[in-house]
Parts: sequence; C-alpha cells; structure tokens
Amino acid sequence: MANKYHIYLLELMFLGLFLTDTSGATDVHMIVSDGENVTLSCNLTLSDCTSTSWIYYKDSNSNAVRLFVENLKMIDHERLSLGPNCSLNIYNVTKEDVGFFVCRPQMEMYQFTNVYLHFLQVSPQSEIEPGSSVTLSCQVYSYDNYFCKSLFIIEGFQMIWVNESDVNLQSDSRYQISSSTEHCNSSLTTTLLNEDNNRELRCQIIKGTEVKTSARYTVKYSGNSPNIKNVIGSIIRVIIIIVEFAVLTAPTVILLLIICERRSGKRRAQSTRLNYVNCSESVVLSDC
Ligand SMILES: *[C@@H]1O[C@H](CO)[C@@H](O)[C@H](O)[C@H]1NC(C)=O
Ligand SMILES: *[C@@H]1O[C@H](CO)[C@@H](O)[C@H](O)[C@H]1NC(C)=O
Repeated sequence: MANKYHIYLLELMFLGLFLTDTSGATDVHMIVSDGENVTLSCNLTLSDCTSTSWIYYKDSNSNAVRLFVENLKMIDHERLSLGPNCSLNIYNVTKEDVGFFVCRPQMEMYQFTNVYLHFLQVSPQSEIEPGSSVTLSCQVYSYDNYFCKSLFIIEGFQMIWVNESDVNLQSDSRYQISSSTEHCNSSLTTTLLNEDNNRELRCQIIKGTEVKTSARYTVKYSGNSPNIKNVIGSIIRVIIIIVEFAVLTAPTVILLLIICERRSGKRRAQSTRLNYVNCSESVVLSDC
C-alpha cells in the first residue's frame, strides 16, 4: 500500500516536472473531438510572426514534422493554416491529429509553447435494439497515452456523461457510469427502451463549469424503427400461427375425412343391402 502511494507520488512529481518545463516553455492542453475546428495559440505577443515555426510530434517514436517555418507551409496538409498572432488553425480535427505542437519563435529560443492536442471519442456500438444492454465507452487519446492521466490529476479536467438537455447522468439510476482516471476513459451502461431511439448521450470534458468538448452518441435502432419492426413481427407471428395450425390439424382433418368417407360408404352399402333385402322380400318401401 505504502509502496503504491510512493510510486504515485513519484509519478506526480515526474509529471509535474514535465508540465512546468524549466526552459520557459508553456504547456497547453486541448481536448477536441471529431470534426471540430481548433486554433492553437502561440501564447506570444509578437508583433512579427514571420520568424515563427510550428513543429509537430505525433509520438515519442516519430520524428518532428515541420509544419510551418517562417510563414511557409512545409507539408501538404489542406486542413492546416496560420491564424492571427502566429496561431495555428486545424480544421475538421481527426484522431490522427493527436500529438503535440510546438510554436517556436526563431529569436527567442527559450520562449516556446507546447500545445498538447488530445482527442475525445465515444466508441461506436454496432447492432443495438430495445431491451438490449449497451455499454458506451468514452476515451481520451493522447500523445503516447501518457499525458492523459495528468489532464485529470493536474489540469483539473473532468469527464462526465450528459443527456441532450445537458443533465448530468451520474445520479440517474438508469445509467451505470464507471470512470478511470488511470486509463482516461469512462463507460456508461444502460438497458435501452423503445423510446430511446434517436436519444443523444454525450461524453463531455469539463473544467469547472466550462464545457471543453463533447463527443456524442445517438441511439439508432438498426434497420426499421421499432414500431414498423413490431408490426412486421406481429404479421409474421400471425402467419406462423396459421401455418402451424394448418400443419397440426391437417392429419386430423384428413383422418376425419377418411373416417367419414368410410362410414358413409359402409352406410351406402348397408342401405343398398337393406333395400335389396327388403325389396326382395316384397316389403313396401318407398325408396326401393
Ligand atoms: C469549420 O470551419 C469550416 C470552414 O470555415 C466550416 O465550414 C465548418 O462549419 C466549421 N466546423 C465547425 C464544426 O465549426
Ligand atoms: C471532415 O473530415 C471527414 C473525414 O474525416 C469528412 O468526411 C468530412 O467531409 C470533412 N468535413 C468537412 C466540413 O470538410
């Protein structure tokens, strides 16, 4: 127990060292979700941005990618542009953009800004239907998966689940929510009802009362809407009952028909014999 606590403290100190870089760099953490437009600020009050560079690191195994050097775009990337005050615009963000971006003014080597871009995503569910239990998983993806923990421990971000009216679902007994700061994710489990079709569930990152970003999941029952599905289901059920009834009763009906046929045949034979006998005995019978 004590050991674990010490390791935790060491980790915190290590993270702390990283985050308060002694070289004068400023660290900024941004969490975004799919399709957002985001502006990474250089955090500098430079009148002239012409000598500023933006450099990107995808993970610790990748080489630095020079995005902009002295106002010149260095890579073929249509979603990137420079904004006012040396800022970097990224349009239509995707998970691929996760990493950290460095804004480095040429003249002031030790005054750069590190912007860590984290990505929030709710895992998609495949087939869902009313009555089924679903678990949605909300995950923060980060540079080397390392800094995500610090978002919650040091930066004070929180991950919550809300409905379409922004009501926190934490205390709603319909939803079981389980979060892990360690793995930077949160899962929500619920049993879906008929009326949940088209309902929106959102995983939000908040800091204080400010919503930083949110990733949404819309409940969509596969194929037909449940009502049409129910109607089709009922029709099929009725057809099955009719067919079953026919199959089960057919032998009985055939048997009955055979018995009736035999009986009436016997009766006919009997009555002919009777008539014959009676007639031959010259008993007056109207039907002879
Ligand atoms: C992002 O910017 C583009 C171009 O300005 C715009 O068409 C689009 O609607 C923006 N998207 C969002 C999510 O704001
Ligand atoms: C954003 O990117 C996605 C693919 O990641 C694309 O399907 C979509 O059309 C893009 N949206 C805009 C507004 O460019």
